[in-house]
Amino acid sequence: MKFYVTTPIYYVNDVPTVGHAYTTIACDVVARYYRLRGDDVLFTTGTDENALKVVRAAEARGLEPKPFVSQMADDFRREWLGLNIAYDDFIRTTEDRHRRAVQAFFEKLHASGDLYLDKYEGWYCVSDETFFREEELVEGRCPNPECGRKAEWIEEPAYFFRFSNYSDRLLEYIEDNPGFLLPEFRKNEVVNFIRGGLRDACVSRQSSWGIPLPASIPESEGHVIYVWADALINYLTCAGYPDDIARFEQYWPADVHIMAKDIFVRFHATLWPAMLMAAELPLPRCIVAHGWWTQAGEKISKSRGGAIPRPGPVLDAVIAETRCSREAAVDALRYHMLREVPFGLDGEFSVEALLGRYADDLANDLGNLLHRVLPMIARYREGRVPSSCPPDPDLHPAAQSAAAAWETAVETLDFRSGLAAIWSFLRAANRFIDQQAPWALAKSGDQQALDRVLYSAAEAIRIAAVLVAPVMPNTADEIEAQLGLRGWRRSWDQAHEWGLVPAGQQIGRPTPLFPRQDQGGKAAAKAAGSPNTTRSREMPVISIKEFQKIDLRVGEVIGAEAVPGADKLLKLTVDIGDEQRTMVAGVALSYRPEDLVGKKVVVVTNLEPATIRGVRSEGMILAGWVQCDDKSIAIVTHDRSLPKGARVT
Ligand code: MSP
Repeated sequence: MKFYVTTPIYYVNDVPTVGHAYTTIACDVVARYYRLRGDDVLFTTGTDENALKVVRAAEARGLEPKPFVSQMADDFRREWLGLNIAYDDFIRTTEDRHRRAVQAFFEKLHASGDLYLDKYEGWYCVSDETFFREEELVEGRCPNPECGRKAEWIEEPAYFFRFSNYSDRLLEYIEDNPGFLLPEFRKNEVVNFIRGGLRDACVSRQSSWGIPLPASIPESEGHVIYVWADALINYLTCAGYPDDIARFEQYWPADVHIMAKDIFVRFHATLWPAMLMAAELPLPRCIVAHGWWTQAGEKISKSRGGAIPRPGPVLDAVIAETRCSREAAVDALRYHMLREVPFGLDGEFSVEALLGRYADDLANDLGNLLHRVLPMIARYREGRVPSSCPPDPDLHPAAQSAAAAWETAVETLDFRSGLAAIWSFLRAANRFIDQQAPWALAKSGDQQALDRVLYSAAEAIRIAAVLVAPVMPNTADEIEAQLGLRGWRRSWDQAHEWGLVPAGQQIGRPTPLFPRQDQGGKAAAKAAGSPNTTRSREMPVISIKEFQKIDLRVGEVIGAEAVPGADKLLKLTVDIGDEQRTMVAGVALSYRPEDLVGKKVVVVTNLEPATIRGVRSEGMILAGWVQCDDKSIAIVTHDRSLPKGARVT
């Protein structure tokens, strides 16, 4: 079996962000999983270099486009290396092989009668590299809310692709092939876009930067191929088109194209399949759009300016906070991104949330499992795995169902559910150790029972390594090394099997994979969850506009009472001028209810309401930590009397 998975090729007008890393990690995980299954995988990524905005970015830096694009492509390559991305091919659209593929493809389009010469008169957004109709613009600007830049008017001779001829065939194809576009709700957007009427697509520009139309096409002089038409063809180039037909037949069609929603409807889900239909080539099996990573609710994007989270500095922050190895930090980032949000939806990116996952899921669940079991094998069995035992009636089925859930998850690109299933297995393995209490068996001298428990636990660890390997390859290697199985030939089937750790196997030196530390003895979990311990330079920079979205007002506490069953919480009634609100505040270890009544406080009024211990909290009062513990919280007041309801800015 073969499996061909692709990332979009990224524009090189600026640096890679955690947003690009997300798609690339997701594809890497898919590729690693199919490789583990024994498939012949082709995983491709690369850079989109023939765009006008790339030329402008080079000009802005005073560079010629050629050295600029090489430098930026290297930047992407380095970033992917640092995230343990095992691509098979990195394509740059300025390569010769790609020019040949694009020109061969265009010759085919021309032969099919789907290309014609006309004049383009209309708007173009350079930042989005997209043609727009007048009525699509918003006050003369790009309608993409993430862009909104001024569109440029263009009048020039151009070649057009008869996109409009393909509406019916596209609709029919989408209807007949239910798994073709994912997720389902985006498929409806595509259908509506097609039903709204497809216009013939302008596919050439007058420029000196880009791939020239083939000379065999009449009046081709001066035309270069429109960057999107050029870029999409990269998926064919990587498969061997047109030079290596045997390779092309082996890998094409792609099994899955993965990207974010921004380039799904107009390009991958419509223009691309229509181009392939025109060239009489098979369509990709599946095209998937995931959501956006955001900061302060807006897409993380290099073109927005401000502090952009790049993978490198995010890893540095994780290492600084936890003192883990770079390999562990890489795996933590990979895990976090796939676990945190459902694949089709947007998610807010924060290092704090990543540290929270590190503490809970990695240090606690996975790390603990390893560092309870291996030292016990060291202590009770002189570091040798005891003789094997039949499959444990609870652990083995739990492992098998985690493996099955992961298989479905990769097929449907639902990484979050797949990882949740693996983590329930890890928790089951931790519970198994709690319940079987090997330390008690060692004390009671029941050697046979102790062997059985230690062997089963070692098997659980071995299976865990296989299960997490696609997402956390470093961790899988490290787990196997600590089990004494360094260099072990891993395969996915081993996740379903039992009894593979050789009896008598000498284990390696147990070392914490995800150290949980901080000199003062505070767990990373605490640090992660508490903004008071995050260094200010690690916080994202926000614009004044973003700050103004926060409605801060003066309020007066007019009632306060304890929340039953929660020793840290107080339920406050706060008068904010034009209304009274209930708010739950975690200040009970520092204030008695009566200390607060009558106090003027500062309140965030437009925070999303939350129900805390059954009490609906509609706002938040501002407070800080005198020291790093909940017993020394100080509420923010003000030094001259401000009236209730006054805005604080
Ligand atoms: N060059 C085109 C793609 C051509 S593919 C034939 C392009 N490049 S891009 O540099 O803008 O990359 C867009 C892609 O990067 C998104 O579709 C997504 O895969 C990834 N992402 C960039 N920022 C992202 C987020 N903030 N969140 C999620 N994915 C992000 O479009």
